[in-house]
Amino acid sequence: MVVREIAPDIFSVGALDFDRRLFDSLIPLPQGTSYNSYLVKGTKKTALIDTVDPTREMDLVTNLVKARVDTIDYLVVNHAEQDHSGSLPMMAELFPKAKVVVNEKCLDMVTHLLDIGSERCMVINDRDTVDLGGKTLEFLITPWVHWPETMLTYAREDRVLFSCDLFGSHMAESTLRVNDWKEVYHAAKRYYAEIMMPFSSSIREHMEKIDTLDIAMIAPSHGPIHTEPNLILDAYRDWISDKVKNEVVIPYVSMHGSTEKMVQYLTEALIDRGIRVLPFNLVVTDIGELAMALVDSATVVIGTPTVIFGPHPQAVYATYLVNMLRPKTRIVSVIGSFGWGGRTVEVLKGMLTRIEPELLDPVYIKGAPGAKDLKDLDNLADAIAKKHREFGILT
Ligand code: FEO
Repeated sequence: MVVREIAPDIFSVGALDFDRRLFDSLIPLPQGTSYNSYLVKGTKKTALIDTVDPTREMDLVTNLVKARVDTIDYLVVNHAEQDHSGSLPMMAELFPKAKVVVNEKCLDMVTHLLDIGSERCMVINDRDTVDLGGKTLEFLITPWVHWPETMLTYAREDRVLFSCDLFGSHMAESTLRVNDWKEVYHAAKRYYAEIMMPFSSSIREHMEKIDTLDIAMIAPSHGPIHTEPNLILDAYRDWISDKVKNEVVIPYVSMHGSTEKMVQYLTEALIDRGIRVLPFNLVVTDIGELAMALVDSATVVIGTPTVIFGPHPQAVYATYLVNMLRPKTRIVSVIGSFGWGGRTVEVLKGMLTRIEPELLDPVYIKGAPGAKDLKDLDNLADAIAKKHREFGILT
């Protein structure tokens, strides 16, 4: 690993993980990830902001040796999750005089999750500062930019915002800084969809606080550093807004072809009406791509057959994800086919407890789709187009 100076006496000392392919045993990582850690050297004191995932703690140790660090005064914990703090116990042991800087909520977490003694901790409040000598670190408590204890750290004189998970991307990018904005935009949007979207209302509040800062650089805990902060800030403003796009996402699964025929028919009917369609065959879908499509789409139509008495488990999984990720979806419907009965539509509707979309009449049929069923799909496409026109996203 390498140590790189990102601002005067501020160094990147984290680790790149090119090979990791899954996060939280859930989120695919097609571009790997990085566990960013930053060393801030003042004239009097030194701080380390976040550590790294425990699988890479020797990378961090090596980098600190390369950076000729003989003492650390503050171990700043922006987030207690393992990928940020899993190496904190080792750092606390290597630097026994270092204070572990946490907020009240994080204190509870580092003591319970990481076995850090509370006597090692310095508890800070929102907008508190520490003076490193020529460098002031200011702490912004920003709950739910992933977990309830998350916070950001702002290096005032250098105008660097260490933004924790916020504004991050799962990319092992060796250039350190954003190299190709289009590529990073895609990765950051995917990251937002998978990790931040459930907390969009909290982010909206925190953006007001962030907007009070003069920011030259955003250094997140994952992915490249933003040296043009307005690009990522504007992208977030768009994603957390209530604006939706003229798009229909169709997560679907089919067993014997009937549901697939219905999805194909509806897809064409929607395209005919000027609507962008994003179908996802759940058998082969990367759930990160599905999550990303949910960020902007006005409508979601779930396609599933009935298995024994309810929805196909793949459709249950997708619906659970939609509910958990809490997109700004305004319209939902269900299409599919059953053999002899079941409660598929009621089960799926009952799963959507965290979002409040309008439910359009499902097209849920017995057996293979016939002429009347195709007509019903046309009617569903008309109803979706009408709603999109009302939303002002389809002319
Ligand atoms: Fe980067 Fe919430 O973990």
